[in-house]
Amino acid sequence: MNGIPNHVAIIMDGNGRWATRQGKKRTEGHYAGYKRLKKTALYILGKGVKYLSVFAFSTENFKRSEEEVNYLMDLFVTAFKSDLGFFVRNNVKVIFSGRIKPLSDKVLKVMEELIDETKDCTGGTFNICLNYGGQAELVDAAKKIAIDYKENNINLDDIDMNNFYKYLYQNLPPVDLMIRTSGELRISNFMLYSIAYAELYFTETCFPDFDEKEFDKALEAYNNRNITKGGVKEKK
Ligand code: FPP
Repeated sequence: MNGIPNHVAIIMDGNGRWATRQGKKRTEGHYAGYKRLKKTALYILGKGVKYLSVFAFSTENFKRSEEEVNYLMDLFVTAFKSDLGFFVRNNVKVIFSGRIKPLSDKVLKVMEELIDETKDCTGGTFNICLNYGGQAELVDAAKKIAIDYKENNINLDDIDMNNFYKYLYQNLPPVDLMIRTSGELRISNFMLYSIAYAELYFTETCFPDFDEKEFDKALEAYNNRNITKGGVKEKK
């Protein structure tokens, strides 16, 4: 038994295929994914997982059709606005990971509000990765170190694998369990530094169907693994 993972990350894949299979528009798949996310996220945090990171929009997703990108951006605006109370009531602290540019002011404003309104919540941290790319995060971390060196004269020898996390978008503990839905067997540039020793779990289930039972299956698989963290100190 490995118990409850401290940090779970999910690549929420398969919204489009889920919709197409049912003769629906891809955007309806994203809406179904969003609805599912609210339920599954609460369930996961309710199980005692302290940090949940989800891949909501990658830097590469901007290359999708204008219709799909606009739909997702509008969904973020309406969802973050209307779910403010939902997160506060459920005591969930919401944070974001990703680049600011080229997100619109409208999206950035609702993100700010959500961060601000939930900053004192203690029932788990929900890290929404939006306009996120793992390589971009490492490049941005290198730039932050360069600035820290220049402005604060830090000693580069003090930077090690444990405290490097503070240069990432969020200073979160490493990921213990990484889940990808819809049968794709790739990491797709998600949380490259933090998943170094994560257990990987892949399921054929598309994200809109990834419910409580599906998460329990992932948890069971995690608990049946023989986990070694490669000697890297656990950061809780
Ligand atoms: C990948 O599936 C999924 C996305 C690019 C978007 C994920 C977004 C959500 C689940 C909504 C989240 C909402 C909020 C408010 C955080 P895909 O479209 O690539 O599926 P496909 O591979 O079947 O085409």
